[in-house]
Amino acid sequence: MITVIGSLKGGSGKSTVTFNLAIWLALSGQRVLAIDLDPQATLTDVAYVRSEEGYKPRIKVIGRREWSAGVNYDDYDEVVIDVGTADMESLKKALLIADKIVVPVPPSQADVWSTQRFTRYATSVVSRLPNPPGIYAFINRVDMQTAANESYETAAALVSLPGIRFLMPRLSQRPVFLHSFSEGLAAMELDPRDPGVREFNALAAEVYPHLIR
Ligand SMILES: Nc1ncnc2c1ncn2[C@@H]1O[C@H](COP(=O)(O)OP(=O)(O)O)[C@@H](O)[C@H]1O
Ligand SMILES: [Mg+2]
Repeated sequence: MITVIGSLKGGSGKSTVTFNLAIWLALSGQRVLAIDLDPQATLTDVAYVRSEEGYKPRIKVIGRREWSAGVNYDDYDEVVIDVGTADMESLKKALLIADKIVVPVPPSQADVWSTQRFTRYATSVVSRLPNPPGIYAFINRVDMQTAANESYETAAALVSLPGIRFLMPRLSQRPVFLHSFSEGLAAMELDPRDPGVREFNALAAEVYPHLIR
């Protein structure tokens, strides 16, 4: 299955979520390919740190050039693509091969608007496919001190956005995601008992129901 993690805004958590999903998938025994289409190359950087540290499982990350040269998807069970702020052509190419499009949405009105825009664009790209991918949104970076209300409002707005399916599990703003990432680790590897990891596992299970028995 090919999963595109996308949005139009930086800072929504695409690279963090893509990386953590890749490790989660690898830990559950899947052969994983991660594709970094963001010129900022965050995913490539974190994978480099991981391989320098020698952490297992190893994650294969390729960039746009290698992707354009051609990938044999049969070599992998799961492919995750961080489109980041990719050029429109790469974004479109990624959307056209996606089985699923996952959109992290921080709890704010600006992010709801931006998600609406992204959904409209993605829908226009994939609408003529025989089997268009579903577009799924979830709330990321919920501020645990202050933002309960914003988070509910964002949830309500996402539920009623046409063309998008709302994933209930949300991720709070948790230091474990920041700390683990800078070390080249997934959150679950740094501290499997962190509440953020519980949230992440619930999200991953919703994105990959076929891997949960
Ligand atoms: N759930 C979260 N909890 C804490 N920090 C997060 C979370 N999601 C993302 N971040 C942090 O937010 C910043 C932006 O995330 P990133 O994944 O780089 O976003 P994007 O790839 O969409 O630009 C990073 O510093 C990252 O560590
Ligand atoms: Mg990024």
